Amino acid sequence: MRTMTKHTALVLAAMLALACSPKDEIDRKVEDLLSKMTLHEKIGQMNQLSGGEWLVESAAKGEVGSILNCVDPAEINAVQRAAVEDSRLGIPILVSRDVIHGFRTIFPLPLGQAATFDPALVEKGAAASAREAVSSGIKWTFSPMLDIARDPRWGRVAEGSGEDPYLDALMGEAMVKGYRSEGLASCVKHFVGYGAAEGGRDYNTTGLTERMLRNVYFPAFKRAIDAGAETLMTSFNENDGIPSTGNRWLLTDILRNEWGFDGMVVTDWNSSGEMVAHGFASDLKHATEISVNAGVDMDMMSYGYISFLEELVKDGKVKESRIDDAVRNILRLKFRLGLFENPYVDENAVIAYDGETLAAARQAAVESAILLKNDGVLPLAKGMKILVTGPLADAPYEQMGTWAFDGEAEHTVTPLAALKESFNVIYEPGLAYSRDNSMAGIVKARQAASRADAIVVFVGEEAILSGEAHSLSSLDLQGAQSGLISAMKSTGKPVVVVVMAGRPLTIERDLANCGAMLYCFHPGTMGGPAIADLLSGVEVPSGKTPITFLRTAGQAPMYYNHTNSGRPNTGTETLLEDIPIAAGQTSLGCTSYYLDSGYGPLFPFGYGLSYTTFEYSNISLDSTRYGKDGIIKVEFDLSNTGKYDATETAQLYVRDLVGSVTRPVKELKRFGRFTLKAGETVHAGFELPVSELAFWNSEMEYTVEEGAFQLWVAGNSADGTPVEFTVE
Ligand code: BGC
Repeated sequence: MRTMTKHTALVLAAMLALACSPKDEIDRKVEDLLSKMTLHEKIGQMNQLSGGEWLVESAAKGEVGSILNCVDPAEINAVQRAAVEDSRLGIPILVSRDVIHGFRTIFPLPLGQAATFDPALVEKGAAASAREAVSSGIKWTFSPMLDIARDPRWGRVAEGSGEDPYLDALMGEAMVKGYRSEGLASCVKHFVGYGAAEGGRDYNTTGLTERMLRNVYFPAFKRAIDAGAETLMTSFNENDGIPSTGNRWLLTDILRNEWGFDGMVVTDWNSSGEMVAHGFASDLKHATEISVNAGVDMDMMSYGYISFLEELVKDGKVKESRIDDAVRNILRLKFRLGLFENPYVDENAVIAYDGETLAAARQAAVESAILLKNDGVLPLAKGMKILVTGPLADAPYEQMGTWAFDGEAEHTVTPLAALKESFNVIYEPGLAYSRDNSMAGIVKARQAASRADAIVVFVGEEAILSGEAHSLSSLDLQGAQSGLISAMKSTGKPVVVVVMAGRPLTIERDLANCGAMLYCFHPGTMGGPAIADLLSGVEVPSGKTPITFLRTAGQAPMYYNHTNSGRPNTGTETLLEDIPIAAGQTSLGCTSYYLDSGYGPLFPFGYGLSYTTFEYSNISLDSTRYGKDGIIKVEFDLSNTGKYDATETAQLYVRDLVGSVTRPVKELKRFGRFTLKAGETVHAGFELPVSELAFWNSEMEYTVEEGAFQLWVAGNSADGTPVEFTVE
């Protein structure tokens, strides 16, 4: 017998260790279990149902693999007991819930969290939310939503990170990591293009090309998957005529074959069945065949899989090997989550509203608030006599925003309650709710204003006005809210407006009627104390717009990272009021703008003021020429030129001047939060590998193209002077 060399022994030992890795161990368990399952039991795993105790029967029969919308630990345990103890194979149930921006403790809307430009804080928030949810027996959340949203008419802008692929990717990654750290599986959704609904009307058709998908809509999904996202949800929309839930190219070619995703794919709620309404499937059975063959593993609430899949396999329309793969993906997740070892939740150890979570929610609310205007009225001196008015001043339910299923209004601290701690408050609501059109309350508020030194008006949207299925064609403040603001302005007292909404509203006229405006995407449970701290100067605003603010809804979609037309605006265009009567057809020039609202937005992406001022200077690169494997080192000075210690988010943008396909006029590539004392200057820098300038080009190759680039470091996407470099 030949003796083993030391090297061979080491290699063998390493191979053995690999062979026994947890992944292989899990795969072995999956195969073992799969080999014992009947076709009916396999299909049972692919079925997800919503509801309560009636699920016990389905679980005992092995006809359900996952449940949603069941949050009572005792009910969860009852369903679990039926699955584990009464079903033939004892496979535990995967319990899911939409924990979108918190479970009990509600954090700011995801759009608000994106406004923090603070992924570490977002990760912390996701971890805290996961702690609460997991303690109640939930193991899987349908978050993060990674849909790029460029049209605020779409109500679901509230649920995502806005319009920018890079910010979206970083926020998604942070959430996935946060959830994972506390044992909550995530679900990246909605794959894909859902946010590009025509006209901003939810569920509507999209027409995105493969290149747009790859350059803009895929990156956040890919990054979140690389960060460990366990599952992915298909989207409701059809893109280019193919509903996502039936799109084999998306769900198999891209997701599995190109990206190597080994997680689980779930439909959106009945999105398999809805392929009938799309006109893509003739009936539910046909829809089931299409979606399973496209690569979907689990059916959320169409009942198609449990009703027809067995028959489809017997008819030869769906291969059993496809079912096996789907079940592998589901079981692998259940093993990874440790469900087989630990299926039950301790009903006496539920965690909610602990100090750490509330502090994280408060910090997130502070950092997510965006100061859009300040003529010097803010911060307000503590102890001042203020009139607090407006329908959102004391609306604990509304300030939680959409998708706050498990948040409890009685735990929410409103601005009214919080402001009373630091100010001498007179309260007069003015309007009962955001759509209220009555004038009587406004008259009362106006009278009360005479007793105050300043007025704070809380306006915005009730929670129901944004989120799923809640699109709007006008983005002005609803009801008589603008009237309330102008009535307050007419008192001559300093007016501060605080907006709490699910989307960027068109608030141009309201801005003109106030001295300061603080914009908060529904700030959640701790919104009140956070806003009180900001208004009183205990905290200094640092949020930046994660989405462009429009002047009028008619400008939508408008986003900073667009490509140029051949006739870009010049900034000198004639607006409606200045057009002479009987003007000649071409007398206004021929550029790309709106006669009534011009070219630019109200506020660009990345915008937000502070109580202090910041200046950028000495922006320099370490070279003017880079190879494709180079690293661009940017340095700059950032100075706090005002009177408050504060935090600024510096943003690095690039433009690839000429491409084989046209490139955006600006793209965010890096950002960082810098905290500076009043008067302080810091020398700071970013590093950007040239490889991150790659895009899907005319040949549909992901590559960096040689040529000239511009680079900006600035406080928002519209500011700054570019420095130039080339890639060779
Ligand atoms: C939404 C998803 C959500 C699911 C489950 C659907 O209507 O589009 O985002 O996760 O319901 O509640």
